[in-house]
Amino acid sequence: MKVLVTGGVGYIGSHTCCELLNNGYDVVVVDNLSNSQRNVVKKIEKITGKKVIFYKGDVCDKNFLIKVFNEHKIDAVIHFAGYKAVGESVKKPLMYYHNNLISTISLLEIMSDFGCKKLVFSSSATVYGNPKKLPITEDFPLHTTNPYGTTKLMIESILKDLYVSDNEWSIAILRYFNPIGAHSSGLIGENPNGIPNNLMPYIVKVANKELKELSIFGSDYNTKDGTGVRDYIHVIDLAKGHIKAIQKVINDNGIDAYNLGTGKGYSVLEIVNTFEKVNNVKIPYKIVDRRAGDIDACYASTVKAKEMLNWSAEFEIEDMCRDAYNYVLKNKIK
Ligand code: NAD
Ligand code: UFG
Repeated sequence: MKVLVTGGVGYIGSHTCCELLNNGYDVVVVDNLSNSQRNVVKKIEKITGKKVIFYKGDVCDKNFLIKVFNEHKIDAVIHFAGYKAVGESVKKPLMYYHNNLISTISLLEIMSDFGCKKLVFSSSATVYGNPKKLPITEDFPLHTTNPYGTTKLMIESILKDLYVSDNEWSIAILRYFNPIGAHSSGLIGENPNGIPNNLMPYIVKVANKELKELSIFGSDYNTKDGTGVRDYIHVIDLAKGHIKAIQKVINDNGIDAYNLGTGKGYSVLEIVNTFEKVNNVKIPYKIVDRRAGDIDACYASTVKAKEMLNWSAEFEIEDMCRDAYNYVLKNKIK
């Protein structure tokens, strides 16, 4: 069984490639390396002892995709490729709409031409906007507050329309909550360029003394300690969810959306405290104003993924904090 992984050199894609290879799938990766490094391909091969077929190219480029599909009989696709930074999407909306939408439409057209109609798509919990109650189930109303989120919602709609037009498609939409952590080998992980926007990469850089202190965005949220609550999920659990989703789309037809989260919410202060405890480091922080657009709390109902995909997360928050820091220590990232 050969799986095409777009964006497979990136953070979630690279971990998913490892899981695919470890589960006996052949993997073809396409990535334009706009947000990743080529040496990750070698690291995936080192971790798994298996070969990765890698093409550097842009998923928006249909001729490039035709070449890949001509050279390989692809059974199913996992589509990670896309831009993902919320703040950047507000400043550069056209860049986000162009890359995320054109890449997806190009991919769907070429898949259709080659009769490959099995897809797993990376969506996000951001499509739930500011949920009215918790935990979030997949049938909650969908609403977005930034261009990045809107690209995900638009793609979800495109996929639903596509399925209505042709019932041979089989599509799993995966709505990720907050992926953190890294592979236990320390070989692959998350290493954003510049000053991180997300909590865990920021904490890691403070621990590594690249940044002086963490700014906690608000302590007056309607949560247990006033700081924002999120559903953090270990990237390896997330990667394993993709194996279940691939099995589902290969065996069944239809389209469905699934939350991939743990179902547990942790506050920013709980994350800081846990990180300090398991890694034996100090994370200096100050409380600052709320960040525009942030919500009080967000965590998943995991019932549907458990029932329909037979998947649930196994790692605890301690594992996530330990593995995130281990990646930086092992790679001496500075
Ligand atoms: P990432 O940036 O690490 O990986 C994305 C990969 O896609 C990168 O390697 C990049 O070079 C590549 N890419 C981007 N545009 C491309 C194009 N046009 N052609 C070919 N390659 C292209 O991001 P990630 O964290 O691994 O996220 C993967 C997917 O999951 C994205 O679609 C993202 O929106 C989604 N997602 C991520 C999160 C998160 O917090 N990390 C949360 C929810 C959803
Ligand atoms: N936070 C801080 N200081 C920081 C960074 C974050 O206090 O320097 C707080 C935020 O206010 C929030 C929590 O830490 O309460 C988590 O923030 P992140 O930026 O790590 O994650 P978000 O939940 O805001 O958003 C992430 C992705 C989105 C995605 C969403 C749901 O960035 O793309 O998870 O999957 F849509």
